[in-house]
Amino acid sequence: MSKLINGREISTAVKARVAKGVIDLKAEGISVGLAVIIVGNNPASKVYVANKKKACEELGIISEEYALPESTTEEELLALVEELNNKKSINGILCQLPLPSHIDEKKVIDAISPEKDVDAFHPHNVGRIMIGDYDFVPCTPAGIMEMLEYEGISVEGKKCVVIGRSNIVGKPMGMLLLHKNGTVTICHSRTRDLKEICRSADILVAAVGKAKFVTADMVKLGAVVIDVGMNRVDGKLCGDVDFDAVEGIASAITPVPGGVGPMTIAMLMQNTLTAAKKQNNLI
Ligand code: GUN
Repeated sequence: MSKLINGREISTAVKARVAKGVIDLKAEGISVGLAVIIVGNNPASKVYVANKKKACEELGIISEEYALPESTTEEELLALVEELNNKKSINGILCQLPLPSHIDEKKVIDAISPEKDVDAFHPHNVGRIMIGDYDFVPCTPAGIMEMLEYEGISVEGKKCVVIGRSNIVGKPMGMLLLHKNGTVTICHSRTRDLKEICRSADILVAAVGKAKFVTADMVKLGAVVIDVGMNRVDGKLCGDVDFDAVEGIASAITPVPGGVGPMTIAMLMQNTLTAAKKQNNLI
């Protein structure tokens, strides 16, 4: 039997830590504010944004939601970002992706002030992650590192294999594992011998976006398996790992739902608190 890494439990601990930090700032007369921008009617994005708003409310973080119509122009969106960059009561700005196709995502990300970029998507923050000197870490990889630490799983010297090379998960995940002295391989759709590489992993992170992509024959006995997948199969949420087959081979595994997902929002809250502290010269 694999140990189940419980993202709900760990995210609750992170959120409690953040809530305390927010109370401590309030005692000094400082409030914490997050602006969340959503453009259009993507149903998944609406759910994510609603969950972010709910987490802010739970933790005493002021949230401002900007729900803009699909017809919003790039200029209008950039003007809003600029307004929020200059708004003192807002410490963090998050623009929910994907954006409608007539808006250049890169331009919008570049327009967010790096000090308020709680997603850590701005090239300035991406570069800082690369050199290991960062304030913000993209929320999903940050949540995974938090889970490993909570479970007492050391990365030092381990073979870490990440499947997926996205800017949001795969690449920063690889860097964070490297900073903890893991030996990192990032695999992708063109990788040869994927099965063998995965089977060599002590820590295997699946961020592919394909349901049950990681099968039992890709997992070494005793490996730690982290499943970033959020796929819908017949209306049911399902990870990138064939959980039933891999559970029992892995020493520890994250379930879907209830694994990495809840961690992502908790880490966004943590980044927002960090932004408020930095902007008030408290760290
Ligand atoms: N869309 C899917 N995941 C994310 C995320 O972490 N941040 C933003 N801004 N958009 C997303």
